[in-house]
Amino acid sequence: MDRIRIRGGEPLKGQVSIVGAKNAALPLMAAGLLTDETLSLGNLPQLIDIATMANMLNQHGAGVTLDGNGADGYAGRTMSIRTADVTNTTAPYDLVRKMRASVLVLGPLLARCGRADVSLPGGCAIGTRPVNLHIDGLRELGAEVEIEGGYIRATAPRGLKGAEIRFPVVSVGATENLLMAATLAKGETVLDNAAREPEVADLANCLIAMGADIEGVGTERLVIRGTDRLHGADYRVMPDRIETGTYAIAAAVTGGDLELVDTDISLVGAVAEPLAESGVELSETDKGFRVRRNGAGIAGVDVMTQPYPGFPTDMQAQMMALMTVASGASMITETIFENRFMHVPELSRMGANITVHGSSALVRGVPALTGAPVMATDLRASVSLVIAGLAAEGETIINRVYHLDRGYERLERKLAGCGADIERLGD
Ligand code: EPZ
Repeated sequence: MDRIRIRGGEPLKGQVSIVGAKNAALPLMAAGLLTDETLSLGNLPQLIDIATMANMLNQHGAGVTLDGNGADGYAGRTMSIRTADVTNTTAPYDLVRKMRASVLVLGPLLARCGRADVSLPGGCAIGTRPVNLHIDGLRELGAEVEIEGGYIRATAPRGLKGAEIRFPVVSVGATENLLMAATLAKGETVLDNAAREPEVADLANCLIAMGADIEGVGTERLVIRGTDRLHGADYRVMPDRIETGTYAIAAAVTGGDLELVDTDISLVGAVAEPLAESGVELSETDKGFRVRRNGAGIAGVDVMTQPYPGFPTDMQAQMMALMTVASGASMITETIFENRFMHVPELSRMGANITVHGSSALVRGVPALTGAPVMATDLRASVSLVIAGLAAEGETIINRVYHLDRGYERLERKLAGCGADIERLGD
């Protein structure tokens, strides 16, 4: 299994190009099941999770082709999805267990075919992650849903019917599944306390381009008036705000000076404020923005994860890596997932001083980290170890790199391109 070796201490300098957002692309791909015409998605990232979703669409009967070059000369940035007929409404365990986001085919399949059998995704490293909100919402749209043999078995033989749904908890995936389902339901659906994440808005805008009638995009109240059919569209996936934030922190931790291009400073959102407070300067440029320290070291700041527009849980591990070398202490509180501190013991092996009390981690900054062999556990935990390795003295070996390949395109090549001493090692 591949490993990554980093020799820390090199400041990142130059430019990094940010790709399309994984967490926008996955629901957008699922939306390709809603129409018999071609949905063409540009600015697609090249990641294992995208390939897994393409396999899923294939086995439902979609034709999936890759084409086009990105600004970086990489082939296959555009994906065309054409689902003339849905030939199979089952999402099997073998595919769903590889990637939880596979559950996003549930709403589209049910809305288009009146039936869907989707394997329950089960727990995952960061928490139990139930799908009760997806199921309850579809029931409110008139579907009959049973759990049997590890599968969600949903039917709506006479089609789905619009309803007023208020989510008790903000859920990105449940909002996306119900948004897609409601576009083909009869009548009006209201989704209240909907997730406001930019990836949800990206999906809504693509659905509008496909002929859907949606109001309230980007707000917590989405109003969808169902239509009989959607048509094809050409849509460009938004830049990845988590990849953007990750490279911004990598630049800050190494004391570098990096320009992030093909992205936008506004996407850093709630991450910008604590970064500025800790002494990191972000300034807009023509193609994106520039990141560097303001001359002093990194100062400790407190952050708490929240649904958008709060501080994203997908940036918590990276922020913690930065805080390990801050002056002073920082309190990092995780409110979204119950088990998202798996990077803590690994960062501690590199010399970090972190104490966890329930859902909060108290990070006392140390003058320097030291390289060590560490184990990646999930996508964002893994990348926090890369960030720590870039800052550490000596050599860090990161095992189980496949987690990184799920969500960061060409990570080690991008980092090496701006001066990091990093390489991928084979077996
Ligand atoms: C999305 O997951 C992202 N994944 C996650 O990104 C991200 O961490 C998460 O949103 C929060 O921002 C994709 O977009 C593919 P949720 P999702 O439903 O939709 C609870 C990454 O690293 N909940 O918003 O699965 C749930 O347990 C990842 O790229 C229920 O209780 O997250 C959690 O506590 C990992 N019942 C909270 O809601 C449900 O039916 C938010 O989860 C659904 C969710």
